[in-house]
Amino acid sequence: MINYKMTLTDDEVAILNGRYGEVKAKIMETLVMFGDIFGAKRLVPVTHHEGHLVTSFGIPFLKPTFTTMDKLIKANIQTIGKFTVDPRPIDYENVKCNPLEKLVFNKILYSKQAFYEDQLMKVGLKDNNAFTCTCYLDEVGNQPKYGDILSWAESSAVVYANSVLGARCNRNSGMLDLFGSIMGKVPEFGLLLDEGRKATWRVIVKTTKKPEAQILGSAIGMKVMEDVPYVYGLDKWLGNEINDEVIGYLKDFGAATASNGAVGLYHIDGLTPEAKKLGDSLLSENAKEYIIDDAELERVYKSYPIMWKKKDKRADMAFIGCPHLTYTQLEDWSYKIVDGLKKNKLAKVQLRTILTTSPDVRMKFMKTPLYRELIKTGAKVSSICPLMYTNNPITKIHRIATSSNKLRTYSIARYYKDSELLDLILGNDKEAK
Ligand code: F3S
Repeated sequence: MINYKMTLTDDEVAILNGRYGEVKAKIMETLVMFGDIFGAKRLVPVTHHEGHLVTSFGIPFLKPTFTTMDKLIKANIQTIGKFTVDPRPIDYENVKCNPLEKLVFNKILYSKQAFYEDQLMKVGLKDNNAFTCTCYLDEVGNQPKYGDILSWAESSAVVYANSVLGARCNRNSGMLDLFGSIMGKVPEFGLLLDEGRKATWRVIVKTTKKPEAQILGSAIGMKVMEDVPYVYGLDKWLGNEINDEVIGYLKDFGAATASNGAVGLYHIDGLTPEAKKLGDSLLSENAKEYIIDDAELERVYKSYPIMWKKKDKRADMAFIGCPHLTYTQLEDWSYKIVDGLKKNKLAKVQLRTILTTSPDVRMKFMKTPLYRELIKTGAKVSSICPLMYTNNPITKIHRIATSSNKLRTYSIARYYKDSELLDLILGNDKEAK
């Protein structure tokens, strides 16, 4: 048995000693070692058993993952609750690929996709619709409550659960999310502790209009990195209640803080649940200060590099929805596209446009007349992960436009503000004329 520093219960020691077999002993060992590295004093029970896994794609170099999954399946080990997982990397129906792209996806990049999905199903995947990073939305239903302890890993989902739902989860890595969901235990450190949820940054928003969620999140992420920010001045623009519009805003804001920095939790004064309950007492004594005005947001926006090979050319593809769009966001974008094209007396979108959302939201939307109108414009609604689609040498030739700061950060997609992206889609930009 390993040497460990944390205090374990008799039951946990027995599991380490092999009470439930070698595989469970190994899983427990990994959780304990992980906890020891971060100074955890003990393991605590997961209270929301629906896990969320970050690894959704069957890339052959993930061989150790497949081997581990195989061991779990052979030992008949499953997660306690059913779990959701990040979006799939391919959707040939809605994100068409040329023969070369298909060849690379099918034979090289994602050749293990079906095999891996079968493994996920055997270990506890919820269902075929469970592939989304916005598992916490009503339509998907993997919704932790205030104070719940989770074993999740996807950074955009973790920051949402911590900040908007008031649940407690560290930014775990892939496989640890699964191991915690199997054992129903996670090491207690960081964002699981009251102390770790205190803000070390006081961020004051002083803009003259509602800030673009993705740029504000990016600015804060790059400044505070992995620290916890407490944001003043945003309730002026968002109000004091979490409604559909606010959910979309905070989802995008949080994903940008988590990807442009490494934020796992933020508090919004007068709005997010812990800030409402505990207010200023969440601020650490020596909290640093960051003031954000219009000029600061513009500085951050202007700092984004354009990484396309042909920088001066027009975009040839747009991805909207990373993280996946909420139903309200999907409706909003669809109205803007359909009505905007009518106004411009155009029948079709002026560049290939893909809106991404969870399979459950997509199915709900597909029943509406608005969906049928949107599809007539040539725009598509997919549940793909845009990053998985674009982050390879083959699809890198596309000049992808996006209003997602996460996609911009991890790929060569170019960032556009929502209004600029809409102009491209509607042909309102000067290159389109
Ligand atoms: Fe979701 Fe993929 Fe973006 S997991 S946040 S759509 S990179």
